[in-house]
Amino acid sequence: MCDAITKEFLNLKLGKCQIFLAFSKENELIATVQIQREHPDPDFCDEKSAYIEALEVRHEFLRRGIASTIMNFLEHHAKQVGIERLTLMVETNNTPAVALYQKLRFHGFKDSSWVWEGKEIPTICLEKRLTKI
Ligand SMILES: CC(C)(COP(=O)(O)OP(=O)(O)OC[C@H]1O[C@@H](n2cnc3c(N)ncnc32)[C@H](O)[C@@H]1OP(=O)(O)O)[C@@H](O)C(=O)NCCC(=O)NCCS
Repeated sequence: MCDAITKEFLNLKLGKCQIFLAFSKENELIATVQIQREHPDPDFCDEKSAYIEALEVRHEFLRRGIASTIMNFLEHHAKQVGIERLTLMVETNNTPAVALYQKLRFHGFKDSSWVWEGKEIPTICLEKRLTKI
């Protein structure tokens, strides 16, 4: 556990989306991530696969292990509810996020892209197969 984070995470379920929030010991919101149980691309979500999105750590708290901690918490939760595979999409040039997911043992399964303000942005689709509890 990263020592900037409280032991409690807030875990909110909103339909097919689950939101995890992490707070500092001073009760500031410092990180968030979501798991989605539906996605328009069936490569990302099915009965046993869930899609991770919107991982973000507040600027002042970067490089203190907070993303790793909240992702490990999410992974533990996923296993408990029977999810066997996590997926996500990251922009190829997002060096911090690509390095983070590599360290967390996500692997690329296809290249993709999205369009932002008329520009095509290359992305990589990553997956991690979870070991059973
Ligand atoms: C990507 C992000 C979530 C990482 O959060 P973080 O709390 O700083 O990450 P951690 O401290 O847990 O870092 C774990 C590992 O990720 C990698 N990493 C994190 N930030 C990095 C950076 N700026 N440059 C290179 N590697 C980095 C390192 O391997 C690091 O391990 P190390 O510190 O032992 O070297 C954060 O930079 C962020 O919120 N970025 C903006 C939002 C975003 O891009 N989200 C991802 C969307 S797909």
